[in-house]
Amino acid sequence: MKKLRAPTDSGRENPDNATIDQISLFDQKTVTLRGWVANFRSSGKIAFLQLRDGTGIIQCVGDVQELGAEKFEKLKALTLESSLVIEGSVRKDTRSKIGFEIGLKDFEILQVCPEFPIGKKEHGVAFLMEHRHLWLRSSRQVALLRVRSEIIRAIRDYFDGRGFYLMDSPILTPNACEGTSTLFETPYFDDKAYLTQSGQLYGEASAMALGKIYVFGPTFRAEKSKTRRHLTEFWMVEPEVAFMDIYGDMDLAEDFVEYVVQRTIKNRKTELEYLERNLEPLSRVRKPFPRITYEAAIDILNKNGKPAKFGDDFGGDEETVISQQFDRPVMIHHYPLAIKAFYMKQSEENPELAACVDMIAPEGYGEIIGGGQREEDLSKLMKRIEEHKLPKEAFQWYLDLRRFGSVPHAGFGLGIERTVAWITGVPHVRETIPFPRMMEKIFP
Ligand code: 4AD
Ligand code: MG
Repeated sequence: MKKLRAPTDSGRENPDNATIDQISLFDQKTVTLRGWVANFRSSGKIAFLQLRDGTGIIQCVGDVQELGAEKFEKLKALTLESSLVIEGSVRKDTRSKIGFEIGLKDFEILQVCPEFPIGKKEHGVAFLMEHRHLWLRSSRQVALLRVRSEIIRAIRDYFDGRGFYLMDSPILTPNACEGTSTLFETPYFDDKAYLTQSGQLYGEASAMALGKIYVFGPTFRAEKSKTRRHLTEFWMVEPEVAFMDIYGDMDLAEDFVEYVVQRTIKNRKTELEYLERNLEPLSRVRKPFPRITYEAAIDILNKNGKPAKFGDDFGGDEETVISQQFDRPVMIHHYPLAIKAFYMKQSEENPELAACVDMIAPEGYGEIIGGGQREEDLSKLMKRIEEHKLPKEAFQWYLDLRRFGSVPHAGFGLGIERTVAWITGVPHVRETIPFPRMMEKIFP
């Protein structure tokens, strides 16, 4: 029995390197599996071990006759989360959720686990968050992280398959992108630097070089919000396209979101069902998505008991009221220029408005996308930098993009954790990333 796996082997043919998700390939055969005890019980002569290996859980049955008295005693010492390697024969079992179980032939215990801090009883969120490193092993967290991984794969496949280049933007930056109020500052030798709030400005530079690009990385905001939608460190994917306007941007956003949602339901149905996600509203996420102007959104708020006027920004409650009017994500476009970031393009039809768009997820999950067309006119952009009281010197490189071959261009940013929360139906973003960072949470 080999203790270690062959890492470059897919496990498809090699029974010494099997994984639980592939177990049906090995019916009637002897396999080696490696994992942890998810559950264990034994009577005098027979023991039932639920083995977890990261790809699934399978029942392994040990009996004293097959294993011998001495080995069977060792088996009985197993505790929750003990680690071991087993060898056994795969057999069909109609009572099993995965259709198979294992008849144990041999095993090697790597460690008998002392009492695992997360037991069978209910634990409060604070306790679970303190033990996030161990909580990750629970079936629910495993399901969530598998969905997250699939969403990220779908995002990459979408852009990679449509001629976009992946461009990395820096994490340490000399200036703000989304305004100065939520910047994390860090010493940088004799100077200071800031953790990036968005890769957009660098994405724009890359789009002028490569045409269609996307930036994908962690972003940081010193946001003093303790809501279920805010993290201080979150992942964002940001496409940026040269020669595209706000309407092309909305076409791209809805096509992209439809693809990501539909592919995730298709490839991670088991996990979504385990999480008790109602798939019906997700199956409705099909183009075209409704598009409403900011002013129409204000009307909706006023008609639905949330008084609002031109110039107001929308918070979570407003977003929920607006999204309740629609059965799929809604795009709100052309907000007042005055409440938006400095780089937003001034609308050609109405100078008070910005050619921008937010996409609000249904079912109260709030804004998942923010983006729009960028101001390509040098003098207008310079004026905006002044009005926003941003340091002019720090933006000279960015202004070069308007000095040298400026073109209309647009893009957006989609927040990964909010998207995972929406697709999985979990109420709080803290469970959608392995190690969440929040205002009052940086451990473990
Ligand atoms: O709307 P935002 O601030 O847009 C930008 O940063 C643009 N520069 C993006 C671009 O055009 N390239 O953020 C984009 C998205 C939001 O819609 C939301 O999904 C997510 O990022 N987001 C957060 N997610 C979790 N915690 C936070 N504190 C977030 N702030 C924004
Ligand atoms: Mg936004």
